[in-house]
Amino acid sequence: MKIRQVTGDERLTTNMPLAQYAFQSSPGGDEQAWRRSLPYRIEDRTLIAEEAGRTLASVTAIPMRQNLRGSVAPMAGVASVATDPLARRKGHVRALLTQLLDEMRDAGCRTSALWPFRASFYEQFGYVLLPKARTVVLDPADLGPLLRAELPGELSWGPAAAGYDRYAAFTERLLAERHGFALFPDYKAVRLREAGEQWLVTAEIDGTTVGALTYRIDDHGGTLIGEDLLFTGVYGRALLLQFLARHTDQVRRASVQVPADETPELWATDLTVRIEAKVDRPTDAAPMARLLSLDALDGLPAGAGRVRVEVTGDRHLTGTHVLDGTSGRLELAPGNAGTAATAGLPTATLTAAGLSALAYGVLDPQELPIRGYGVVSPEAAQQLRLIFPRAMPYLYAEF
Ligand SMILES: CC(C)(COP(=O)(O)OP(=O)(O)OC[C@H]1O[C@@H](n2cnc3c(N)ncnc32)[C@H](O)[C@@H]1OP(=O)(O)O)[C@@H](O)C(=O)NCCC(=O)NCCS
Repeated sequence: MKIRQVTGDERLTTNMPLAQYAFQSSPGGDEQAWRRSLPYRIEDRTLIAEEAGRTLASVTAIPMRQNLRGSVAPMAGVASVATDPLARRKGHVRALLTQLLDEMRDAGCRTSALWPFRASFYEQFGYVLLPKARTVVLDPADLGPLLRAELPGELSWGPAAAGYDRYAAFTERLLAERHGFALFPDYKAVRLREAGEQWLVTAEIDGTTVGALTYRIDDHGGTLIGEDLLFTGVYGRALLLQFLARHTDQVRRASVQVPADETPELWATDLTVRIEAKVDRPTDAAPMARLLSLDALDGLPAGAGRVRVEVTGDRHLTGTHVLDGTSGRLELAPGNAGTAATAGLPTATLTAAGLSALAYGVLDPQELPIRGYGVVSPEAAQQLRLIFPRAMPYLYAEF
């Protein structure tokens, strides 16, 4: 078995048929559609495991960017992980994913994220679950009272292609502001402009975009199917909700996606609303993420804790470090036992998933032993809690 990278047209006969078999209806596969999608994959890194000219398995990484507690850095978005059914359980994906993550880390990626078919499969590769966005379903008529509110700003609406540049600039701003937010590279993001499948509404105040929603409408009396309701403040959200209210008696329902810390039940009085996050195998995943490099932690805003952390069982993070947040910015130093720097410091032993859970802010240090992510004394937990306060990552991009 040989591992190699595939690019361009070669994808059509190697990883794409395998991905079709794994993730789409089959037999079938529209080669023309695959060919049309090639420009949107141009810098994706795809590795295949090959034997006698036959593709046995493939994995892909999309070079994305992600915000980790305010710091934006390259991220590897892992996708299209698939093995030929006769070649499964022979370690092909283990070998491919290991090499892919090595290469992406060497290319500067500090984090990685994916949407798992089964979370425990990726937990063994150091990934930890992140909160899943909620789907909000409501009747636009229930938002009618919001139309009486006088709001600063205005709405523009049209094909997503027309407003694409404004949308791209707005998501770029959210990338800088929102923990966990991740963006595609331009060659993939432009698909929104070129596919012609979505409407876009944006809310602006004094020329600054404060809200955006891409959506489509499936039928008269049907559903306005929104993607992520993106906004930077209460006016942005209220302007977008007013826009939904304008579809009263045109559609019965509107659905939008919101981060897990949003509370749609408070959007309006007398609002009948369903707020759902369904997690199931193999579809309907909650996302997962991991640190690929300890550099991801360096300089992050942190509370005044100090602790020694030993990461075990991971090719990217293994080692012992002192994590010091006393300056307000996280500093990492070698954590060898028995030195003056580590004397008297509480120590935690963590897996990669455990340290990733703390960095993303999704678990309390005390939960890590319960989940099999390490050994954490109460003293170490207290310091880790100061350094890594709980946070709510919002991954946004689905791949
Ligand atoms: C899931 C899939 C990619 C696994 O590929 P594979 O080449 O069989 O995986 P590997 O043999 O490298 O397995 C790596 C490890 O995971 C385990 N594993 C494999 N499939 C698993 C599964 N479905 N559930 C739990 N563990 C699994 C293996 O036992 C192995 O563990 P080990 O190294 O301790 O023995 C493959 O079954 C597949 O193509 N499935 C359909 C498409 C799909 O779901 N892709 C994933 C999208 S996120």
